[in-house]
This record gives sequence, structure tokens and C-alpha cells, in this order.
Amino acid sequence: MKRLGVNIDHVATIRNARGEFHPDPFEAALFAKKKGANSITIHLREDRRHINDKDAKKICSIDNLFVNLEISTNNNIVKNALKIKPKFVCIVPENRNEITTEGGLELKRNKKKIKKIISLFKNKKIRTSLFINPNIKDIKLSKEIKTDCIEIHTGNFSNLVKSKRNFTKEFLKIKNCSVLATKMGIEVHAGHGLDYKSTKILRKIKEIKEFNIGHFIIGESIFYGLAYVIRKFKKLIRD
Ligand code: PXP
Repeated sequence: MKRLGVNIDHVATIRNARGEFHPDPFEAALFAKKKGANSITIHLREDRRHINDKDAKKICSIDNLFVNLEISTNNNIVKNALKIKPKFVCIVPENRNEITTEGGLELKRNKKKIKKIISLFKNKKIRTSLFINPNIKDIKLSKEIKTDCIEIHTGNFSNLVKSKRNFTKEFLKIKNCSVLATKMGIEVHAGHGLDYKSTKILRKIKEIKEFNIGHFIIGESIFYGLAYVIRKFKKLIRD
């Protein structure tokens, strides 16, 4: 069965726009779980522009909730995450001025550092994932780094689908990487920029075990409600 991870960062974005307490990402995590989310993703960014440390601690302490904490390779963030002890951690690249995570990790350049970070989390029995671009070299490097999972950045694919351009080449890249990673014993996740249409296409790749979706889910919920949108995605990714 494919899993749906709901990224609730933008619940915090809306809360922070007022500087008050509503809507509460903690409540959103509980609600999303109740409505069928298999896991909750939160990104503790270096600039804390949405989820903050208090949110992360509170959300990661919810019993029986799989929280996937996205973090950069920044030393303080890593130290913090080791203290927060999420069930999963996903290492992502982070640039100060980006609007969102623009691409996958530069594994070749940062191999030593990322390998060390992965081992720190594995020692604490925290499952690890690397957010990477769909290319074969990065799958091989992921294996050397000894991550449990990878999350393939689907941003380019999503943009092609949204702009009604030919996405076959990008789809095949994602598929080939998913097949190779699975053969190597790495679990495959996918995420970034996904909506109903792009998810429906990618669900055909049987090796993808989890979709992590944020912006579209929260945006669409304004019109149809979070429960409805989660239900629709769950139906859509059903094997
Ligand atoms: N997966 C990862 C690793 C991400 O960094 C993000 C964005 O924070 C997402 C999934 C969700 O992307 P989107 O908000 O575009 O659905």
C-alpha cells in the first residue's frame, strides 16, 4: 500500500501571518492523522519561517504518529533534531532566499558530511531519508551513504505536468531511479509540487511507497476541507 504523508508547514505559515495561535499545526497533525494521513511532514527551517522548535517538539511527541522531520545539514539544526527525536528524518538542501526547496541534495559535494549525519540518526534508531534529484548517480551515492530511504524531488516533473508539456523523459528518470533504489534495498518516497494530476501519473510507479504533499493539500483545503482532500489523495494513490 502506498502511504500519504501530509506536510503541514503551511498551516504554520497561516498562523504566523497573524503572529497568534490559530490555526495550530499541532491540531492539524492530529486532524490529518484522524482523517487518514499515514504520516505528517514538518520542515524545521533554519529561519523558522513556518514550523518552530516548540511545534516540532509537540508534534513529534504525539503517540502513534509518524512524523517525518525535514532538516538541513546545518549543525545546530541537526543537534536540535537529535534532541527532538522524530520517528523519521529527511535531509534536505536549504538556501536562505529560496521560497521552497528548489532541488535535491548535492550528494557528491557533501557526501562525507551527510554520511556522518545519517549515522548520527541511525545510532538513535531514527529512520533516515535523503531528498534527491532523480538521477542514477545520486541513487548510487545514497546507497554508499547508507540511508534507509530516499525521497525523489518531483518538482520538475510536477511543473511539466502543470504546464501541459511533455513529461515522459522526467517520468522515466523517476521510474528508473525508483527501480534501482528498490533493487538496492532503499525505500523510495516522492514529493514536491505534487497535485492530483501529477500524483495520479506517478502512482503508476509501483516502487514509490510514499508521497509527501504539502502546498497543494493545504491550498485545496481552503475550498474543500482538509478531510476531503486527504480522502481524495488516499483514494488516488491506492494500489
Ligand atoms: N518533500 C520535501 C522533502 C519537501 O521539502 C517538501 C517541501 O517542503 C515537500 C515534500 C512538499 O512539497 P509541496 O509543498 O510542494 O507539496
